[in-house]
Amino acid sequence: MKFSDCHSVEDFRKLAKRRLPAPVFHYIDGAADDEITKQRNSAAFADCDLVPNVLVDTSDIDMRVTVMGREIAMPLMLSPTALQRLFHWQGERAVAAVAERFNTWFGISSLATVSIEEIGCITTPKLFQFYVHRDRDLNVSMIERCKAAKFDAIALTVDVAVSGNRERCLRSGFTSPPRFTPASALSYAAHPAWVANYLFREKFSLPNLSTHVDEGTNVALSVADYFNTMLEPSLDWTMAEAIRKSWGGQFALKGIMSVADARRAVNIGATAIYVSNHGGRQLDGSRSPFDQIAEIADAVGGQVDIICDGGVRRGSHVLKALAAGATACSGGRLYLYALAAAGEAGVQRIVGKLRDEIERDMKLMGVRSVAELDRSMLRYR
Ligand code: FNR
Ligand code: LAC
Repeated sequence: MKFSDCHSVEDFRKLAKRRLPAPVFHYIDGAADDEITKQRNSAAFADCDLVPNVLVDTSDIDMRVTVMGREIAMPLMLSPTALQRLFHWQGERAVAAVAERFNTWFGISSLATVSIEEIGCITTPKLFQFYVHRDRDLNVSMIERCKAAKFDAIALTVDVAVSGNRERCLRSGFTSPPRFTPASALSYAAHPAWVANYLFREKFSLPNLSTHVDEGTNVALSVADYFNTMLEPSLDWTMAEAIRKSWGGQFALKGIMSVADARRAVNIGATAIYVSNHGGRQLDGSRSPFDQIAEIADAVGGQVDIICDGGVRRGSHVLKALAAGATACSGGRLYLYALAAAGEAGVQRIVGKLRDEIERDMKLMGVRSVAELDRSMLRYR
């Protein structure tokens, strides 16, 4: 597998597997328990077929959608993910540059490896993914920094009451920062280019947390231990509403799955929900986002933007989610494998391929704008 042979997310996944030390690859690729939800997130799209209409003049395709008050040029956003400079030294900077070129939303994680202030200079719509910490001052500091850096939205992740059981990470001993243990030494030694980048480029850190906590930057912790010891376990709807108020801007809840919670999100003033199970990394056995879109859209469509997050690997997946009632789709691994495999050039290539797939599939479906996609074009097997 070489770069020029990479035409799909799966192709980049294979290249990433070769280029990364095993613990890092399995952190990205892995999920909770038996990884059934992770598989189902993509498989759900294959249980639903598109029914095209033909003989429509599709010489002009309009893919624009508006999410959280910002118009973007295509209905696919890049989800916030942690630790990106471990995947490729260009990290979040590469993903931000590509999002800017395609004019779509992207976001940085609370566990990002570049600062809120640096990302503030990016002109494309950008959000900060907020993990509520036990350290109250840290929470205040992150929100103040986002305000000062003029972020467009905050996405509060709500599916981490406790860490999912990620067995690949248990086996590999993956931590942030990485630890070179006897068990993992061989796989690091087999990837000297990765090790050289890690050791000799900009020092690894989590600059949005390290002002208040050492864990993750100077004290090595697994992501599971980080979630379980550093995040606020008493987070509830009252606290979520208070965070929305103290932020005051566009506000998404990330990790909504039930209709009841979608209604509660509207009630506390959220402007978007990510229908998401965290890419299958939290509750294995959870339903897939795509399977939940129709009932959520029937309940709260028009009152809140509905983002279908998880399992998206093809342009046709995006069309199916929009036809079912989503405002837009979003994804993590769809760009992370490409980032790991080839840095900014990889992210540029895969986002371009996915954008082209969306456009081609709209032509083949006989729709000129995303507003024309509806459930009459879907059949479930
Ligand atoms: C994530 N995700 C995530 N979500 C979040 O709210 N904060 C975070 O720090 C991270 N970090 C993270 C790291 C990695 C390696 C992955 C794969 C995912 C979840 C992410 O935002 C998104 O919900 C999922 O990636 C969606 O599933 P797909 O697109 O990967 O199938
Ligand atoms: C993950 C984080 C950090 O899923 O959200 O690994």
